[in-house]
Amino acid sequence: MGKPTRWVTDTKPGHSQWYVDRFRRLAAEGADLAGEARLVDALVPPGARILDAGCGTGRVAGALAARGHTLVGVDADPTLVEAARADHPGPRFLVADLAELDLPAHGEPEPFDAAVVAGNVMTFVAPGTERAVLARVAAHVRPDGLVVVGFGTDRGYPVAELDADAVAAGLRLEHRFATWDLRPWHDGAEFAVTVLRRPA
Ligand SMILES: C[S@@+](CC[C@H](N)C(=O)[O-])C[C@H]1O[C@@H](n2cnc3c(N)ncnc32)[C@H](O)[C@@H]1O
Repeated sequence: MGKPTRWVTDTKPGHSQWYVDRFRRLAAEGADLAGEARLVDALVPPGARILDAGCGTGRVAGALAARGHTLVGVDADPTLVEAARADHPGPRFLVADLAELDLPAHGEPEPFDAAVVAGNVMTFVAPGTERAVLARVAAHVRPDGLVVVGFGTDRGYPVAELDADAVAAGLRLEHRFATWDLRPWHDGAEFAVTVLRRPA
């Protein structure tokens, strides 16, 4: 594992278990936790192979697996990965650092049709590793595959930086929206959903 993520350095002890409990409670209450998965499902062919990068409690991977896709979820936080394995039996969940991601070394040599980086993951990576994270994620996606990234725009990672990191990672900007249900992007939008494609 490389540098500690902001998920560790910028949160209080016990935060991971609090987060697990919160998402379990929301699921039990019937909250809609699958908005990101619905968008990704619309972008890929049926039965796609999808990487959930920074999968947390596995809610996005679980929802995509329920739609018939093959999922690998990766997160640096072992507490969240343990919860993901317990709550979503379909996908394979691994503890790994996205900045050094090497899934063939974990027995996952096949490239992915798409990767989803949802829930502010890019704003929780270790400072200065954003470009490496995007590059390692992109390297696991097949040519003509997608990387879909969503994060709040007031969390220290401007979209202009994402765009520069995407170019460095060999990705092309295809779409940007203000929400996962595709409200139009505009300057000052509080959230950015960005669809990047690896050229064929
Ligand atoms: C707010 S959570 C979002 C979890 C999940 N994507 C979701 O939307 O439910 C942010 C996650 O990013 C993960 N993360 C941050 N940097 C990471 C890195 N370098 N490698 C793997 N996971 C990372 C954290 O461990 C945390 O689980």
